[in-house]
Amino acid sequence: MRALFVALLLVYASGSGKVAGANGAKGNRFVCTAVPAGTDLSCPVETTNRVQSTSPQEEELRNTIIQLRETILQQKETIVSQQGTIKELNSKLARCEADVRSRGSARRKDYSKNTMGDLPRDPTESVEQLGKTMQSLKDRLESLEQLRTNTSNGAFPSELRDLLKRRLSDLEGQLLTRVAELEEEKSQLYNETAAHRQRTENTLNSLLERITELEKSNSAFKSPEDFKVALPLRTNYLYGRIKKSLPEMYAFTVCMWLKSSASPGIGTPFSYGVPGQANEIVLIEWGNSPMELLVNDKVAQLPLSVSDGRWHHICITWTTRDGFWEAYQDGERLGTGENLAPWHPIKPGGVIILGQEQDIVGGRFDATQAFVGELSHFNMWDRVLRPIDISAMANCSAYMPGNVVPWVDANVEVFGGATKAALEICEERLFDS
Ligand SMILES: *[C@@H]1O[C@H](CO)[C@@H](O)[C@H](O)[C@H]1NC(C)=O
Ligand SMILES: *[C@@H]1O[C@H](CO)[C@@H](O)[C@H](O)[C@H]1NC(C)=O
Ligand SMILES: *[C@@H]1O[C@H](CO)[C@@H](O)[C@H](O)[C@H]1NC(C)=O
Repeated sequence: MRALFVALLLVYASGSGKVAGANGAKGNRFVCTAVPAGTDLSCPVETTNRVQSTSPQEEELRNTIIQLRETILQQKETIVSQQGTIKELNSKLARCEADVRSRGSARRKDYSKNTMGDLPRDPTESVEQLGKTMQSLKDRLESLEQLRTNTSNGAFPSELRDLLKRRLSDLEGQLLTRVAELEEEKSQLYNETAAHRQRTENTLNSLLERITELEKSNSAFKSPEDFKVALPLRTNYLYGRIKKSLPEMYAFTVCMWLKSSASPGIGTPFSYGVPGQANEIVLIEWGNSPMELLVNDKVAQLPLSVSDGRWHHICITWTTRDGFWEAYQDGERLGTGENLAPWHPIKPGGVIILGQEQDIVGGRFDATQAFVGELSHFNMWDRVLRPIDISAMANCSAYMPGNVVPWVDANVEVFGGATKAALEICEERLFDS
């Protein structure tokens, strides 16, 4: 009974476009009809058939009810179409979800490719994209809220209204979940971008370290001994220096490859000065003199001649015992002698200079005594090498690094414009000489 009255009031209110109170209906009166228990009250239209209308008031009421019935039918149609809209929104949501998910996984795959690989093309761009997607979802959510507000103000039958309300709050829940997921995705994207940046930075740092290392050791050559020192000008400031000093020695062998066309004399291929004796060991070809070996400032003339502009391999051995020496050129022993600083021990702790003669340890060079040309494989041993070892080195069948001074890149510094360059292969030097 009361339910019917409320339903009718509601219908009336919808017709007049206002929310009406129980006593707000001016001049109109409604008749309440008894309804048998168990009758479906949700559709007021059903009840109209039971009204026995005879009076004009009843007639009027019937007409009103017929009009209301049409209105309700129209509203039913509206609801059906709104349900369609909801379905469509649902499917769009699902598509959007799938899209975002696949994009997320594609991005993750991108990241794991390799450390120096492509950076994410533009992380801010994709984050913006996500932001737009979220904004559009929020807009849709708002319009659905609006729809719900409109609907709850309207005059839908309570059952349908509740249904719609439930569907709408379901949808709202889904949207909120989706928005939360997108927020999560966005944060993850930020994190991944940060992690990627970190990895890139680490890789760059290790590359930088490696480059610095390479620059330090300067091992730009195939192997550390495959280089030569070029001293192109006769100056008192171009030179090379061996970082290692010599121990005290009672014998030595010194070998090297030389290429020079300087005249008169190729100058000083190397000199070893110690405190108190600038000419502890010197190899020099000066003015019109032949090549000379100085040990403790004593002199021996060597039968060597290399100033033809081609590569030559030379070796000189010396022993304190009788001051005996040997001179080799291109693997052949061309001369020997004795009494060169006999019983003198070679003093330790001096400086080996390539290309200049020292008047004090490590300095006071004289341009007229400078070596002009190229020099390589300067090796020193603290013993006298056998002729067979020397000829094997000279004919390229063997390479022996010196045991007291090995020719390695890291051991040789150049100054004043002297340069290091890659060394021709041994056979090429051999063919040249
Ligand atoms: C809800 O009602 C307002 C005002 O009547 C109208 O502007 C708006 O378009 C309606 N919204 C929907 C989704 O029907
Ligand atoms: C992103 O990093 C922040 C802080 O490190 C953390 O709180 C958050 O949970 C991370 N988000 C994801 C999705 O991993
Ligand atoms: C190089 O010298 C070594 C030692 O004297 C000798 O055994 C070898 O046969 C030589 N090789 C060539 C190709 O001349």
